[in-house]
Amino acid sequence: AGVRPEFSRAEDGRFRVRVPVEAGTSLYGTGEVAGPLERTGRRVVLWNSDSYGYTDETPSLYQSHPWVLAVRADGSAFGVLADTTFRCEVDTGDGIAFTAEGPAFPVIVFEGQTPQEVITRLTEYVGRIDLPPLWALGYHQCRYSYYPDTRALEVAREFRARDIPCDVIWHDIHYMEDYLVFTFHPERFPDPTAHNAALHELGFKTVWMIDPGIGDREGYFVRDQLLAGDHGVRTAAGETYRGEVWPGWCVFPDFTRAETRSWWAGLYADFMAAGVDGVWNDMNEPAVFNVPSKTMPEDNVHRADAALGGEGPHAQYHNVYGMLMVRASREGIMAANPEKRPFVLSRANFMGGHRYAAMWTGDNVASWQHLEWSVPMALSMGLSGQPFAGPDIGGFIGDGDTEMYARWMGFGALLPFARGHTDVNSRDKEPWSFGPEVEEACRLAIRRRYELLPHFYTLFREASVNGLPVARPLFFDDPKDPALRTEDDAFLLGSGLMVVPQLVPDRTRVPVLPKGIWRPVALTGAGHPDLPEMYIKGGAIVPTGPIMEHTGERPLDPLTLLVSLDENGRAEGTLYEDAGEGHGHRAGDYLLTTYEARRRGDRVEVRVKRAEGDRERPERELRVRVILDGGAEVAGSGRDGVPVVVGLGGRGCRPG
Ligand code: GLC
Repeated sequence: AGVRPEFSRAEDGRFRVRVPVEAGTSLYGTGEVAGPLERTGRRVVLWNSDSYGYTDETPSLYQSHPWVLAVRADGSAFGVLADTTFRCEVDTGDGIAFTAEGPAFPVIVFEGQTPQEVITRLTEYVGRIDLPPLWALGYHQCRYSYYPDTRALEVAREFRARDIPCDVIWHDIHYMEDYLVFTFHPERFPDPTAHNAALHELGFKTVWMIDPGIGDREGYFVRDQLLAGDHGVRTAAGETYRGEVWPGWCVFPDFTRAETRSWWAGLYADFMAAGVDGVWNDMNEPAVFNVPSKTMPEDNVHRADAALGGEGPHAQYHNVYGMLMVRASREGIMAANPEKRPFVLSRANFMGGHRYAAMWTGDNVASWQHLEWSVPMALSMGLSGQPFAGPDIGGFIGDGDTEMYARWMGFGALLPFARGHTDVNSRDKEPWSFGPEVEEACRLAIRRRYELLPHFYTLFREASVNGLPVARPLFFDDPKDPALRTEDDAFLLGSGLMVVPQLVPDRTRVPVLPKGIWRPVALTGAGHPDLPEMYIKGGAIVPTGPIMEHTGERPLDPLTLLVSLDENGRAEGTLYEDAGEGHGHRAGDYLLTTYEARRRGDRVEVRVKRAEGDRERPERELRVRVILDGGAEVAGSGRDGVPVVVGLGGRGCRPG
């Protein structure tokens, strides 16, 4: 096909690269954007911005990905990555155009037979996620903020008392003393170690927030160390820069310096020693209050490592400030707990930064519009290299209503990162806060996620190996089918499972579904009007497990395989398992099983086709559910590792 970039100068002197596209091409990516999945005919400005209550007209959100994925009419694809960190305009109105401040920049073009192949090529180049700890794939509960400690514990106990699965309780800025990072409020959280231990006792992990703005208070150890070590971002005049954030006047670490990153990383040793499991880095665009630009002056000076480009203005390093922060945080967390897998969530980031942190879509609104955008936003992130993404379920700003909350949880629990969160002044938004009916919808939605946990974990492992997103657009199923190109209500989990939610209040929208065999499959909560319909593709095997209160509660036993035969009476699927924590899997301590199913006459035989890894197959029950047309099914069981035969009892699948 041949992709030919054209280089030119815009009237104002900015360097510009344009890539023409042929008719019938659909464009995607451009990172974090609100609005539809398909990005043809749009304009974004890549400039990490604190965008409280953003809309689809907001030109810049929190993260920057100078990247466009193009899918041609014939289903082949290419992607264009602009190698610049400066403010960059991405215009997809007439082909693909990147116009950026700063010096001329190269573009890197990735070609593929399919869009999937292009994403694999991209992530080969920019890197892939490391496998997260299993607990990070559970449901997370947050608010701004749970305090004092007894309130956080009360929320945790409610989850257990109400039998709603949950793995993580989050601690937003009120846990700190005067919003000073790496401190704990003496009255609200007098004994964080005991508090974390109490949550651990209930089977919860804890995540705590750390922002980049360091309160400029004499005697505060982080600020004193920053000044003594000269770690601050400087003004053009060479002074330590000061800007206002939560604590009032702040100084800001210059994360572009290796020395500063290692100082920052070192701060996590004592912090993590209190039993902290994960870290939330926020406001790292960096956000600055009370200035029109909402960030620091562009002529501020970063004394960056030579490898990053050497000393340069904030204009050059702004978009990577958050990424370099989470890189340093992650290093610190790993050094503090070398035997564990790190978990970091970040609001700001840059292409490639998914290697250091998961993302959420910032300060969305409790509205049906934002509910709807949360699917394409998560999918777009996946197409931009970041598989670990999700919205504030229920909406951050405002209260929302009962029906909306239930619906949001219905599908939000199936997005890669599943966390409920809300703003400081909004109503309570725990799954039970909207009364018993909504509570039941949420219980079922979250239980469904835990039922699918073996599948989610397998998909995250796949993302770590080939970069493919966990949640995928429907057009991945048939990139040639033009009808699927704009579908962004329904989405895929992997290649064999489809989620079809109702995103508009009156449920009138009819999603365009892929052709071929897709059979309705009953998972937890099947038939509930606020939960999505689920479909399994002919030819797929999807692993599911027992519902549990949290991911560490019990082993995967029984293992239940959902089997959907293709037109030839065959199916195949994988299950990845390991310790769920630690690094043993890198040395071979894992089990990757490919199961296959074959129809023989009136029976279906399911067996292990191949297995990889040193981990022994657990002694466990294997249940098989063969999903037939129209959602009927037949089931059988046996021991995992031994073939299981299920009689079709005269009920056919499609002829084969
Ligand atoms: C920012 C974050 C939000 C958080 C709040 C307080 O607005 O986006 O998630 O709750 O700050 O820390």
